[in-house]
Amino acid sequence: GADVEVDISAIEPGQLVRVMWRSKPVWIVRRTPEILAELGEHEDKLRDPASENEQQPAFAQNQYRSLKKEYLILVGICTHLGCSPQHLKDGAFEEYVEGVPEGFFCPCHGSKFDMAGRVFQNVPAPLNLVVPPYQFVDDTTVIIG
Ligand code: FES
Repeated sequence: GADVEVDISAIEPGQLVRVMWRSKPVWIVRRTPEILAELGEHEDKLRDPASENEQQPAFAQNQYRSLKKEYLILVGICTHLGCSPQHLKDGAFEEYVEGVPEGFFCPCHGSKFDMAGRVFQNVPAPLNLVVPPYQFVDDTTVIIG
């Protein structure tokens, strides 16, 4: 079928891997404890921090937007006009949002998203990045779809 099974056992903390699902890029990020802790520190700068206006699986409507805190799984397509945002880490994102060390930046028109895929204010993208449906079949295997 169209579902994609991914072995996540080799993903290092902080690493992002890309897979294709139904012709779309899907990102799987293994978030570090530091990044998880930081998610609560900039919610006043987000357009929809609780993901109230999004279409997403019910399990993702939380601060982490994920089933397991450690693993962020997103469709890697900007919600503005469909460009591919860049993953900026190790402080590189602070150039775009002061005090936030890591996030996603869309080079097309400057939209910015945090490490839960939540969109920042005052950018053209209207919505948070999409969380696809997925499930874990065991600790190291996830099925997208
Ligand atoms: Fe990403 Fe426009 S397509 S900001």
